[in-house]
Amino acid sequence: MIIRLRILVLASFLITFPIPFYASTIFTLSSEDSLSAPQDSITSPNGKFTAGFHSIGDNAYLFAIWFTKPLVDRTNTVVWMANRDQPMNGQRSHLSLLKSGNLVLIDANQINVWESGTEWSTSSVELSLLDTGNLVLVTYDGQRLWQSFDSPTDTLLPDQPLTKTSKLVSRRSLSNFSSGFYQLHFNEDNVLHLVYDGIEMTSVFWPSPWLIVWDAGRSTYNDSKTAVLDRFGNFMSSDEFGFQSSDYGVELQRRFSLDIDGNLRLYSLDKLSNTWKVSWQLFISSCRIHGVCGLNSLCSYDSVSGRKCSCVPGYRMKDPKDWSYGCEPEFKVSCNDTSSLDFLPLRHVEFYGYDIAYYRNKTLQECKDLCLKRCDYKGFEYKFVEGNGTYSCYPKTLLFNGYVQSSWPDFVYLKVPKTRHAWQEQYQGNLHCNGKKVILDRAYGSKEHNGWIKSFIWSVVLGGVFEILCVLTYFYKTRKSSNETTQGYLQLSTRFKKFTYAELKKATSNFSEEIGRGGGGIVYKGKLSDGRVAAIKFLYGANSQGEAEFLAEVSTIGNLNHMNLIEIWGYCAEGNQRLLVYEYMEYGSLSDNLNANNLDWEKRYEIALGTAKGLAYLHEECLEWVLHCDVKPQNILLDSNYRPKVADFGLSKILNREGLDNSNFSRIRGTRGYMAPEWVFKMPITSKVDVYSYGIVLLEMITGKSPEVCGGSGDDDAMGLGSLVTWIREKMCETNERKSWIQDIVDPALDGKFDLEKMEILLKLALQCSEEDSDARPTMCEVVDKMVHPKIFELKADMLM
Ligand SMILES: *[C@@H]1O[C@H](CO)[C@@H](O)[C@H](O)[C@H]1NC(C)=O
Ligand SMILES: *[C@@H]1O[C@H](CO)[C@@H](O)[C@H](O)[C@H]1NC(C)=O
Repeated sequence: MIIRLRILVLASFLITFPIPFYASTIFTLSSEDSLSAPQDSITSPNGKFTAGFHSIGDNAYLFAIWFTKPLVDRTNTVVWMANRDQPMNGQRSHLSLLKSGNLVLIDANQINVWESGTEWSTSSVELSLLDTGNLVLVTYDGQRLWQSFDSPTDTLLPDQPLTKTSKLVSRRSLSNFSSGFYQLHFNEDNVLHLVYDGIEMTSVFWPSPWLIVWDAGRSTYNDSKTAVLDRFGNFMSSDEFGFQSSDYGVELQRRFSLDIDGNLRLYSLDKLSNTWKVSWQLFISSCRIHGVCGLNSLCSYDSVSGRKCSCVPGYRMKDPKDWSYGCEPEFKVSCNDTSSLDFLPLRHVEFYGYDIAYYRNKTLQECKDLCLKRCDYKGFEYKFVEGNGTYSCYPKTLLFNGYVQSSWPDFVYLKVPKTRHAWQEQYQGNLHCNGKKVILDRAYGSKEHNGWIKSFIWSVVLGGVFEILCVLTYFYKTRKSSNETTQGYLQLSTRFKKFTYAELKKATSNFSEEIGRGGGGIVYKGKLSDGRVAAIKFLYGANSQGEAEFLAEVSTIGNLNHMNLIEIWGYCAEGNQRLLVYEYMEYGSLSDNLNANNLDWEKRYEIALGTAKGLAYLHEECLEWVLHCDVKPQNILLDSNYRPKVADFGLSKILNREGLDNSNFSRIRGTRGYMAPEWVFKMPITSKVDVYSYGIVLLEMITGKSPEVCGGSGDDDAMGLGSLVTWIREKMCETNERKSWIQDIVDPALDGKFDLEKMEILLKLALQCSEEDSDARPTMCEVVDKMVHPKIFELKADMLM
């Protein structure tokens, strides 16, 4: 009965929303012709791109260009839209090429929603979609009257330039394609800027506004104002900004997009999994992007969505469905009656910008008094100035761009009424510090939704199929074990695969080619049935770990997705056997390459930077979600372009941010020579243990000396701790002239060929990272920042003096 009903619903649904069997696909549109919504489209000769009517919801369509081949989740990635802010009706709307040469988009009610504004009276014109994804209007004598490449929306395709007249504008949300708040464009100073242009305010946030453009590595002199991504993954802008994708050199399908979170990302299409992979992104810390949570709110990291917004205590969301509107106070403060006011301290919080003034060398009470004097001060930041041991305060007129970061030592004091409210009692100064679970779903590219119609069709179809299956299953009385169900769920919720032991045995020709050992297992090279070459790790002592525990850990690792982390493709858990399947890295480990002297100075610097980015990501934007605990050159693998990927987070332990106690670590982890002193002295284990190991790896890359072999007085150095560091510090003291001591310690294999300035940066960082005192070490995010913008930190220090 139920089935019949379902089928009826399905049938009636299909009648009311006919699937367009009569859709016509053409290659060109001639004068006085038109395309009718929703079914007509134009395809590029190579079939890669389609221009047509893209459904964005309940009978709402955009005229758009998209990649013809749908992704694994059946969505199509849109790369251009004509009328993003004015969707139109699905029936009787059309795109017409008028005799006058104007291309117009006309809604069902005859309203002109968009036009190309072109005019051409002498000969007829033709619209076609080129293989590059460019929709062009060309006259018969070859003149290009109009092209979609001139008016990008949120995406640039390879060879599509961003110019002085064009800009990228993010979407409003995943499901709302209209213009959002973030823009990328060239300013009057000829520099490419990222701007948050929100509901109540506008601010430039990249390059960092407090940096002088030159210090950000940009040039203001070139007024050609063009930026373009080439076919091989190199992006270059006329202001000297540029980058290469992690898969640079190969011709892949790529797109450069300004995403809804205000971050710039380069995506490459992974043909095997049919998903978009991030091959470069601008910000590691997405909370540093302005405006993310609106006014009076705080951005912090969240295990599920990557980032989370919350209101400042005492405030509530203005629009419960949309963070862009921010939060509003739940209380009223009376300015005249200062005796009714109090301050609420917020720890680890910063609000960027809107400091109306700043006062040096003030006590907390002096700052409070200053803040009470002015009604428009909402609170102040109270900051310790390391240089002279005093405090400064920065009153805020707006609480904007707030973020929570555990490594941020200072306080913000909020002006609140003295009368105690429930929220004040609840708030214990320990905001957001109880994140626990770590499932980082970073399937960036695959989350486009085509509105509810698609999902409704699918739910009806799947519903019907499911019911039929249920009935059949019932009749055959087959029983699904609960075990199978959990595995099925895991496969759905993550993007990696469960392999059988037999499959992996076959792939590795019965585990014949060993390529590595350590980190809890032996690694074999293998070839999977789909042709991919893989590194397959057979874990030791796996039977001590329950299957559920193993799956939990694997799914965590499998969801970590970063271009500088090794990718995990799947796992096998059968009986006592536990195996992990990773991507295979052609050039082997950093350690092998250092020994073989394959790495020149440029490669070493890039490897140092890439490794830092991978670790910064692992520490989840400096919030210490996942520790690696065994960073060493053997665990840094190089791809065919010598780009590094951090491997073997087999030892990493998922940590509760607060609960960084040693009881989680029953035994010492890591490798002699690279281990931080905390392990030996049984001190609390934080992400700084990885920073230490990273510092030692840097020193090894600089000097070419392994920490175990090098120096070391033996006795007081039982763990091999710091011997390399000691040797370098001694060298440093021996000679006063900096150039000569650097030359003394640098790997002779480099043959003196290195950039002294960059070498100094790297050395300084390496020594900071390998400080014995874990607090003196920078976070991995800071390391990345310092390597990318070495001048920032000197400047920042100056500003605080
Ligand atoms: C999309 O966002 C715009 C701008 O905020 C808004 O006007 C419009 O109603 C939204 N559309 C949908 C379908 O939510
Ligand atoms: C800070 O102020 C105090 C009291 O006004 C003064 O004694 C001290 O020298 C000042 N410190 C600095 C570094 O200016």
